[in-house]
Amino acid sequence: MVASPDREQVTTYPQWWPAVQRPAIEFAPTPLRLIAGALPEGLQGTLYRNGPGRMERSGQSTGHWFDGDGAVLAVRFGRSGDRPQATATYRMVQTAGYQAEEAADRWLFANYGQLAPKPWWERVGRDLKNAANTSVLALGDRLLALWEGGWPHAMDLDDLSTIGLDSLGGALQPGETFAAHYKIDPQTGEVYNFGILPGPQPKLMLWRFDRTGKLQRKRALKIPSVSLIHDCVLAGRYWVFCAPPIALDLLPALLNVQCFSDALRWQADRPTQIWLIDRDSLERVATIEAPAWFQWHFGNGWENPDGTLSITLARYWDFATNQHLKEVARGQITTPAQAQFVEIHLDPQGQRFLGDRLLFDRHCDFPTVAASEVGQPSRYSYLSTHRPGFDDPEQFKQEQFGTIARHDAQTGQITYAAIPEGCYPSEPLLVPDPAGDGRSGWILSVIYDGRSDQGEVWIWPSDRLEADPIARLALPHPVNLGFHGTWVPA
Ligand SMILES: [Fe+2]
Repeated sequence: MVASPDREQVTTYPQWWPAVQRPAIEFAPTPLRLIAGALPEGLQGTLYRNGPGRMERSGQSTGHWFDGDGAVLAVRFGRSGDRPQATATYRMVQTAGYQAEEAADRWLFANYGQLAPKPWWERVGRDLKNAANTSVLALGDRLLALWEGGWPHAMDLDDLSTIGLDSLGGALQPGETFAAHYKIDPQTGEVYNFGILPGPQPKLMLWRFDRTGKLQRKRALKIPSVSLIHDCVLAGRYWVFCAPPIALDLLPALLNVQCFSDALRWQADRPTQIWLIDRDSLERVATIEAPAWFQWHFGNGWENPDGTLSITLARYWDFATNQHLKEVARGQITTPAQAQFVEIHLDPQGQRFLGDRLLFDRHCDFPTVAASEVGQPSRYSYLSTHRPGFDDPEQFKQEQFGTIARHDAQTGQITYAAIPEGCYPSEPLLVPDPAGDGRSGWILSVIYDGRSDQGEVWIWPSDRLEADPIARLALPHPVNLGFHGTWVPA
């Protein structure tokens, strides 16, 4: 824990706190020092990651962890002479809102978890700032910094300079939102993404692009109410959405007396609605009702030989996770929230929820699979979770995930990475070995070491996660805890 003087008492903060609260320390392209091991010869390309980099101004924290302005990290793995060399860059996304607040040195705008700091009658159109902080998508000649409440921001793939809001060649219309959790078909390279249009007649917007970013199809589906749909999943021929039983209190939200996060109500007596979309036509072909749960993230989905669907996800039994993540913004967490990794089973023909299966019963999230297995059966899932032996739910409340793990769907076995206490790994991403079959390679994670206040990049062979990393690289400055990333091969 870190002690920090408060007005009247000494408050202790968790070890991860500097990597949330401190404004991102940007850095220009910097060759990374190898601390241990050796870089694999085949690891050639760039890891991009996004997350909140500005959580406090003039002593005021944001309302929610999701409100921090986006900061993007690029770690490029190339060569220097005949030796592998990694170089990293870290940049704030220069959104118009970020620039205005930088100039004013105070918060000016509303966001997911905060209202604009002015009388409610002066709050026009919610004064929403695009935080550009959730994920990244490399599309054509640019990197898109994604945020689910608005358009993406384009950045330069090399130096991470911000180009500006990007409509994807006119595919996005003013007012439309573009989610942070796109999916890419590994065979065709097609990019699927969605957005929610709130209002009296809410809609689920659907887009499919080719691998270069050219729009193939766009469709607007009427949905019964606004829910919080953060992620989606491909499963064989289907594109699947799970709408948790969350209602938006429209009036206080429209009157700008409640921020979006506070206007969301968990309704435990209502079902989760599952929508199956035909991936070709983008038509809804089935609606399935299931027990009430909430998920931020899916792992993967696939069609079974009997025509049923299997989908993996990190499942919460309620929406307390939203409050938990809100409290991250102040470094003092009192609300517990735990997810389990589960597989649900659906019957598209009979439009029935067939049940679920517990895969991993410890708190976890950020499930990922090999990009080559998206929408198809996948043996291994990689997750963020707590270290083995760290089992006290009271301690969970204050702690960020302390390790990453691999789940083997064939054996049910869990393999943990050995990450010391006080270190915080990012979402694990599998980078395929170009000499392999696409399912194996290396696991990359950006580590914040709260013991020494340093940032590192750790690399493990995907089949030896339990062993020491084969390479550890020192970042010039620690990088803030973030959300999602992507890999772009050289
Ligand atoms: Fe996410």
